[in-house]
Amino acid sequence: MAKILVTGGTGFIGSHTVVELINEGYEVIVLDNLYNSKEVVLDRIKTITNVRPKFYNCDILDKDGLRKVFSENKIDAVIHYAGYKAVGESVEKPLVYYQNNIAGSLNLYEVMNEFGVKTVVFSSSATVYGDPASLPIKEDFPLSTTNPYGTTKLFNERILEDIYASDNSWSILLLRYFNPIGAHKSGLLGETPIGIPNNLVPYIAQVATGQRDFLRVWGNDFDTVDGTGVRDYIHVVDLALGHIKAIEYALKHKGIEAINLGTGNGYSVLQVRQAFENACKKEIPYKIFDRRAGDIASCYADTTKAKELLKWQAKYGIDEMCQDGWNFSKNNPKGIE
Ligand code: NAD
Ligand code: UFG
Repeated sequence: MAKILVTGGTGFIGSHTVVELINEGYEVIVLDNLYNSKEVVLDRIKTITNVRPKFYNCDILDKDGLRKVFSENKIDAVIHYAGYKAVGESVEKPLVYYQNNIAGSLNLYEVMNEFGVKTVVFSSSATVYGDPASLPIKEDFPLSTTNPYGTTKLFNERILEDIYASDNSWSILLLRYFNPIGAHKSGLLGETPIGIPNNLVPYIAQVATGQRDFLRVWGNDFDTVDGTGVRDYIHVVDLALGHIKAIEYALKHKGIEAINLGTGNGYSVLQVRQAFENACKKEIPYKIFDRRAGDIASCYADTTKAKELLKWQAKYGIDEMCQDGWNFSKNNPKGIE
């Protein structure tokens, strides 16, 4: 089986992907600088899979560190998750985001090229569609961004397109994730937000565990089913399984493709709150606030391309996402420690 390097492999999506790669029989190398995750995640991966993957505590800004990883392992393909992801923080610290997410990625692509490793699956985001003119969102929609984080995703896509244009022996997948939530069924892996959660479900989870008093609903005057924002939430395990299909595809086909990973279904803030209440069997109090700057009304994916090209489609619904998310949050109220 192929040997896969997972950058950001101890993070939220990365750790779930590592589990599924090991389950499929791949040999996995994990690289992370532990900026937003803990090494103990590797022990939890071992509890689930019986395998503790080889780990490099390495920063993608450290090019020699990257060279060491590639010289010590015959890597066949890379899944590149490492990066910063907080939209608000990126507005305050654009240089930090450009440095980490763009300079870091450039280092990685350069070192891959040096070692002749030309297969990469990149973590992009539905944020590259900006405010879409219509729904569902297809991959050929116009691209634009509203914050530096989103710009780092779009620049990475452009850089990878230019790399492919210059050398078509590369195999590149740009996976545009919608809104990943939920957790591993074991309750051992999940998301650990730093500080006050920015995203909806981690915030609701902290209301459910008593760490916050109520949910702040950012606006109820959007043109949606109940006025609150609609998003395409996807179970993180489905997303991880999408990466398994993506790696299978990328190892067989040269080229570059952008592919949406979502369910194709949209749920409003109040619908998600209801599903989480059902899962945790507690009331989640909420108050309506003004809209959050930059938020769009609705966002959900056209999933046709993922079905056709990758033979993948999400199988979990919103209730299972909330049940698994709650199972993790109640067992790990302060996240993975
Ligand atoms: P995460 O923060 O849990 O994982 C990212 C990991 O990368 C962390 O473990 C962090 O320590 C590591 N990292 C950061 N900078 C690094 C560096 N310079 N060198 C080495 N490691 C570094 O985030 P996640 O939710 O798992 O997201 C993974 C990827 O998916 C990110 O690129 C993110 O932008 C993208 N993405 C996430 C979402 C989402 O809502 N979670 C949506 C779309 C795209
Ligand atoms: N929301 C609230 N209260 C909160 C948090 C969120 O009402 O406390 C609402 C938002 O207004 C929005 C919805 O819940 O309508 C979802 O918000 P999130 O912050 O969870 O997610 P976003 O869709 O805004 O953004 C997320 C990631 C981005 C990524 C994007 C698309 O944070 O990085 O999905 O993948 F780009």
